[in-house]
Amino acid sequence: MRGMTTSQAPVARSVSTIGVIGLGTMGAGIAEVFARNGYAVVGVEKDEEGLARGREHLEHSTARAVQREKMTEAEQAELLGRITFTTALKDLTDADLVVEAVVESLETKKAIFRELDSIVSPQTVLATNTSSLSVTEISTANSHPGRVIGVHFFNPAPVQDLVEIVRTVVTEDQVLADTKALVEALGKNPVVCGDKAGFIANTLLFGYLNHAVSMYEGRYASREDIDAAMRYGCGYPMGPLALLDLIGLDTAYEILETMYRQGRDRLHAPAPILKQMVTAGWLGRKTGRGFYTYEAPDSPVVV
Ligand code: 3HC
Repeated sequence: MRGMTTSQAPVARSVSTIGVIGLGTMGAGIAEVFARNGYAVVGVEKDEEGLARGREHLEHSTARAVQREKMTEAEQAELLGRITFTTALKDLTDADLVVEAVVESLETKKAIFRELDSIVSPQTVLATNTSSLSVTEISTANSHPGRVIGVHFFNPAPVQDLVEIVRTVVTEDQVLADTKALVEALGKNPVVCGDKAGFIANTLLFGYLNHAVSMYEGRYASREDIDAAMRYGCGYPMGPLALLDLIGLDTAYEILETMYRQGRDRLHAPAPILKQMVTAGWLGRKTGRGFYTYEAPDSPVVV
């Protein structure tokens, strides 16, 4: 987006400061992606505990890159130095783009988009990383819904090269063009779609994941064999149950529920065991227990 000029986009926004609201798995990953690309990032969480968790996530992820000799310690310090942490939304005054990545709650997201109205400039693009909620509905909370857009990153955000850009019927052409150019500047591949629960990738992916859970629930095959079948037979980087543990079972359940409510496709009716595991607090890697057990939260080591 920096310095971009095309006949369609004569006044492309210049973007240097990014606000990221919510520093959970996705938000922290998104903050890392922007900071890696030289942007100043203001990370916002609702309390000090959330901030500490987000900071720890960022330190851990970048330390891993240092360990793998993908980054020097000096570069890690520089990257982390580009990120400031705050619990106050009002610290986003100078943001050229805000990416909201809080819990999948329509009310919470709408409250944030409403509050941003009086904080950021009317030119600031407001993006939501929602996986399945209606971007249009979220945009109605803001007095400039034309600058609201979906930017859906994939987990782990620093690794996965796709970003779905969700345009609503009121998203301005310039906002779409600028967002697409920005995603390209991050080295990611943007794809554009309309505002329907699940967008492109989750609509296709979650029927498959849910089916794997039903197979496991019906004791048709062991978790290891279900996962091995898709890894070794189909070349997927990880099996469906391991992937659900990475995504988070609570997130997966919410996505399926929303898609099922909207589309009534039986493929998306969440397998009952998923809800039971969520209720039991087995949310996957982040809690150390999901379909597999992990030595430490967020550890890729399975025991
Ligand atoms: N953060 C940062 N970097 C990470 C990371 C993380 N959480 N996890 C892995 N990496 C990096 C590693 O540092 C390594 O980097 P390098 O190649 O530069 O050294 C690289 O990724 C590969 O990691 P590993 O060697 O540890 O492990 P794998 O080769 O097994 O890869 C994986 C791990 C990237 C998670 C891979 O298994 C994979 O791509 N899995 C599929 C993930 C997927 O499908 N994601 C989409 C989920 S759906 C979604 O997000 C939508 C949402 O709405 C739910």
